[in-house]
Amino acid sequence: MGGNSLKTIPLPETIQRLVLIGFRGTGKTTLAQQLAGILQWPVFSTDRMVETTANMPIHRLIAKEGWEKFRALESRIIAELPAGQPAVIDCGGGVIENPANLRHLQQNALIIWVDADQTTIYQRLQIAGDRPLLSRPDLREDIAANYRRREPLYRQYSHLRVDTAAENADKICERIVEIVQQQKS
Ligand code: S3P
Repeated sequence: MGGNSLKTIPLPETIQRLVLIGFRGTGKTTLAQQLAGILQWPVFSTDRMVETTANMPIHRLIAKEGWEKFRALESRIIAELPAGQPAVIDCGGGVIENPANLRHLQQNALIIWVDADQTTIYQRLQIAGDRPLLSRPDLREDIAANYRRREPLYRQYSHLRVDTAAENADKICERIVEIVQQQKS
């Protein structure tokens, strides 16, 4: 799929949720905050909710309990997100690992794949050094291996791809808000 256009998978009649998926370091949280500010919708960050529930930062939770426990908690939190009310949902990069997560997230949602090239992701993750590596001991290899594996999933589940390395955040938000408003009228 080239570019950033809307795909042919049907949009809900009314968009009540903006769901941001995509690899770590692509800027989901920044966009989620900005969109929520424009639309005056609340933001739910699955990572922050996991941390609140576990009462510890994600890197500590994973060191202590492992990835399986983290994924189970993340899935529980997603299943319990309030439905039927406007919200921006800022998802951890691994939500697409479990199809059940997407079944919950898809309700009345515009699903946005927030993407960036791997060099940009690498630079951003080097600065934000507290994210635990996913499967490889070297950051660059970890990104390459997991990005390659996940890319088709982000594509499959999203209505729209935005590229935060190539496009300005204000422009991206404008485009998304326009889709939400068109869908309303
Ligand atoms: C993860 C991404 C992280 C966080 C956890 C696992 C992943 O979220 O959920 O470290 O599997 O890619 P961000 O995408 O917000 O960094």
